[in-house]
Amino acid sequence: MTSHTVLGIETSCDETAAAVLRLEDGQATILSEIVRSQVEDHAPYGGVVPEIAARAHADIADQVVAKAIGESGLKLSDMDAVAATSGPGLIGGVMVGMMTGKALALAAGKPFIPVNHLEGHALSPRLAEDCPFPYLLLLVSGGHCQFIEVTGLGQYRRLGTTIDDAAGEAFDKLAKLLDLGFPGGPAVERTAQGGDPARYRLPRPLMDRPGLDMSFAGLKTAAARIIEQGGMSQQDVSDLCASYQAAIADCLSARADRALGLFEVEGAKRLVVAGGVAANGAIRQALEHVAEGHGARLIAPPLRHCTDNAAMIALAGAEHLAAGALDPDAMRFAARPRWPLDEASALSNPVYGGGKRGAKA
Ligand code: KG4
Ligand code: ZN
Repeated sequence: MTSHTVLGIETSCDETAAAVLRLEDGQATILSEIVRSQVEDHAPYGGVVPEIAARAHADIADQVVAKAIGESGLKLSDMDAVAATSGPGLIGGVMVGMMTGKALALAAGKPFIPVNHLEGHALSPRLAEDCPFPYLLLLVSGGHCQFIEVTGLGQYRRLGTTIDDAAGEAFDKLAKLLDLGFPGGPAVERTAQGGDPARYRLPRPLMDRPGLDMSFAGLKTAAARIIEQGGMSQQDVSDLCASYQAAIADCLSARADRALGLFEVEGAKRLVVAGGVAANGAIRQALEHVAEGHGARLIAPPLRHCTDNAAMIALAGAEHLAAGALDPDAMRFAARPRWPLDEASALSNPVYGGGKRGAKA
């Protein structure tokens, strides 16, 4: 039996996280995982403030890592490697996590593994589920919105992406316009309850175009025009949230439908939805419906593994370690604010927007 135990560190946005994971013959066991959210630090600003994030990561990264190692029942010297998100993301935070990881690896005399944050998300369903390659991944969060074909470790093809805002960002912007609080997605979903999704006609850009790209910026502009007119009752606000959520669900499910059609595999198809927006009930339901139409299975990792976490970073590290494909120059790896998972398609089809944490696309 081959066994690899890895400490993972994640600091690319507004969660400081560390986890210890063991991979035994392809089976992952999470020995510990700690996530400290900075939501309260950023809430007064209605969005993530990079400087505040970097400072907060620097303040607590050591404690979070020590707690994760302590709760795993192991010692640093028991790790086979240390993996840390080394991009893409907010550069200040990425550097804090990456330097922490390098220092620990050096101290313990173990390999350091720089992990692409997006690869962590791409592999996240494998944390809990029996989710063999290949599968189609829809990554929808505050910073990313893309379809990725995952055919194996290190084999990712980006099929489509948002050309402006990410879906989570669209939710956050509506919440800001309506003063519903941050993060916006859960607030909009709550407010949409009891609302009429057919009340407001909102745009569904690119939906009938070829390809798999998406666009959400126009949706926010349309909502802003409605809100500007003023005089909205509580019911109007509810209806607007429901209509907005329905527009996003329609766009994502129409694209997922097309993506599943293009995704040619032997046997049953798997559609994985990950990222914070995967928590949205209406969106999950719409995707479930689309998957059913293709005889595909919809896999939605548990919420704590949909949002940013270190278990997925440790898993990516462990899978690379198990595959024996480590970068001998990893200690010299420079943090990358931009680091597309699929460099080839990113070059031929650059992302113009890319979310409020633009760096993440
Ligand atoms: O994956 P995540 O925690 O962080 C990154 O952006 O990487 O995703 C956070 C995003 C935020 O934009 C948040 O508003 C959105 O996910 N979100 C939701 C819901 N819960 C979180 N969007 C819609 N409905 C939800 N229930
Ligand atoms: Zn993320």
